[in-house]
Amino acid sequence: MGKQARAIADLSLKDLMKDLNKAYCDEWLAFYLYWYMAQTVSGRNYEGIKGALEKLAKEEFEHATELADLITKLGDVPVANPMELEKGANAPYLIPPKNTADINRIIRIVAEAEAGAIEVYSKLAKKTFGKDTVTYQLVSHILSEEVDHEEMFENLLER
Ligand SMILES: [Fe+2]
Ligand SMILES: [Fe+2]
Repeated sequence: MGKQARAIADLSLKDLMKDLNKAYCDEWLAFYLYWYMAQTVSGRNYEGIKGALEKLAKEEFEHATELADLITKLGDVPVANPMELEKGANAPYLIPPKNTADINRIIRIVAEAEAGAIEVYSKLAKKTFGKDTVTYQLVSHILSEEVDHEEMFENLLER
């Protein structure tokens, strides 16, 4: 983002960077959690859950990439040290179940993570609406995917 674009973003840039970096940390934790559970899920009929977790992991990775891109465009850098990811996130890392065949538990973990993500991006969308259109567009795009993720896993639970 150039000087002019930064100037028109009608928000405290420092505040915005903090929020975007927190969301960036969340995305890495979600990516790792889903990716890990996709690799390890076992038991009867595990393939459907594995596929769903892989799809989500891929999209969380894309969200991390999109946030890193925006953070650097705004003149800052994303968190450099992976040790800082959990500390910097909005919520602690959710530990995957020890029993890798516990599909209901996996679904509940995803539903909890997605509900948290929806809350984070709803707040960010409200905060940036009419003030910083570029950030607003990105967080709205991510929000709509998190809503899909939650719905996808809620439907799996109902079956
Ligand atoms: Fe995400
Ligand atoms: Fe998600």
